[in-house]
Amino acid sequence: MDSKELIRKYLEFFKAKKHAAIKSASLIPEHDPSVLFTTAGMHPLVPFLLGQPHPLGKRLADVQKCIRTTDIDSVGDPSHLTFFEMLGNWSLGDYFKKEAIEWSHEFLTKVLGFDAKKLSVTCFAGDKDAPKDEEAASAWKSLKIPAERIYFLPKEDNWWGPAGETGPCGPCSEMFIDTGKEKCSPKCRPGCNCGKYFEIWNDVFMEYSKTKEGKFEKLKQKNVDTGMGVERTIAMLAGKKTVYEIETLKPIIEKIKEISRINNPDEKQLLSMRIITDHLRASTFILGDDKAVAPSNVDQGYILRRFIRRAIRHGNVLGIQREFLSELAVIVLEMYKERYDELYRNKNFIISELRKEDDKFRKTLEKGLHEFEKIAKATISGKDAFLLFQSYGFPFELTKELAAEKKIKVDEKEFDDEFRKHQELSRVGAEKKFKGGLSEASEETAKLHTATHLLNEALRIVVSKNISQKGSNITPERLRFDFNLDRKMTPEEIKKVEEIVNRKINEAIPVKREEMSVEQAKKKGAQAEFGAKYSEKVSVYSIDDFSVEICAGPHVKNTSELGTFKIMKEESVAAGVRRIKAVLS
Ligand code: SER
Repeated sequence: MDSKELIRKYLEFFKAKKHAAIKSASLIPEHDPSVLFTTAGMHPLVPFLLGQPHPLGKRLADVQKCIRTTDIDSVGDPSHLTFFEMLGNWSLGDYFKKEAIEWSHEFLTKVLGFDAKKLSVTCFAGDKDAPKDEEAASAWKSLKIPAERIYFLPKEDNWWGPAGETGPCGPCSEMFIDTGKEKCSPKCRPGCNCGKYFEIWNDVFMEYSKTKEGKFEKLKQKNVDTGMGVERTIAMLAGKKTVYEIETLKPIIEKIKEISRINNPDEKQLLSMRIITDHLRASTFILGDDKAVAPSNVDQGYILRRFIRRAIRHGNVLGIQREFLSELAVIVLEMYKERYDELYRNKNFIISELRKEDDKFRKTLEKGLHEFEKIAKATISGKDAFLLFQSYGFPFELTKELAAEKKIKVDEKEFDDEFRKHQELSRVGAEKKFKGGLSEASEETAKLHTATHLLNEALRIVVSKNISQKGSNITPERLRFDFNLDRKMTPEEIKKVEEIVNRKINEAIPVKREEMSVEQAKKKGAQAEFGAKYSEKVSVYSIDDFSVEICAGPHVKNTSELGTFKIMKEESVAAGVRRIKAVLS
């Protein structure tokens, strides 16, 4: 079975169980300030897990493209990837543990044909915040999974979320396939990374929300969020020992072998090939997203730069002295073009950005490696690591990786201090962000969401009717709105936009939410984001006939709740794209 067939079978299975199939959201989360990438299928669904009604109902299923940079150090082992596809089924306050577990079991054993004897599962062991999950365990027992293959594990293993500081979370039950390998030690159990137990699916029972104070409160509704890794499941179905041997990854490894002329790589060379394969896939999908993120030194662009540069360096290890990533990217986009047509639409951008970044980095790579040899003494100071970053474009982990090969340490804290001094965004800040977090649904963010709709419309009135949203990011403190314009806004225009938004606030207009098909929404003149993939039925928010937008919310009930709107900054972020930062007071 290949990925396409697995996905088809999964969606068919859950459609038969009355789930509506929804489309994969963008890899770059909309409105969410706490994460750089969509790390799980549940991410775009947070407002609905918190109780907002979903236009397609209470049962959903999908396949979502995800990026998890927290796993970057594990890339190359049998099962971890930064980019992967995640299958998921959701209950938004509908079914709970028993059904979720029964269906997981049915799909694994009946549809996919896994031998139930090879299945081990884990359940939450219980602590001061929540009880031992006997309910999940008894569901497994009634499916004839014997007690010795049901493991009770603590929070660090068997509790999912919140991905950020606060938000929906709960105990989970994970499913592992026994690969038949010997246990690495008597203590070896599901969760051990030796390769005996391969985690393929996780059922999360989201009935809690973690508060800012660290308390776990019951949510309004009991949700189910499940996540099945496509690459891992295919590997296990095909009896492979690693994800790198499946049909979506192997052709890339083969091409690297061809380019490097290394047919029988040793262990170190194989690791380099796997790192290139993983990072190239992630880079292709980031560049291929309609949000048009290019390599840079901030936010998603910085992560992308790190992926590309680390891949180039590992190419160097394999003796590849020319640009080669764009050739590999073509393999990826051919492979995925049916499922993710954005890759093909953005083909030129993907190829040209990979080539540009290669050109930039290759110029300094040799010199930087030379410099590294000079400074690689007992430990590498943070200042030297920063010099490598600033003068030779070495992302920190590249220096760390080179140092580890020589068994020397790098002063990370000093590097961070230097970085912070020089960059708007500290590396630590970025790490924190990409550890994951969930959109926060406070009153402040709801207000700023509504203000964003007003701003969007005011810009079209004042500046140009061709303006459309290129990106949005909202924290409880401010909104950030990107739009297409190839010049600076004048002070008069900024003032006029503020006036219009404040006038609409003062008019105290009710904010109306309706559900309809995308066609109906477009007929109604609703603003939709270019390239965004909507499900058949969407939520449309209207503020009189002034603003009509397809949007997942959350929003306030009336514009009068907003206060006073003020634009703090208007700047350029990319060619032809401007950014406004604005606040409400
Ligand atoms: N959110 C859970 C995970 O990412 C299940 O989808 O594992």
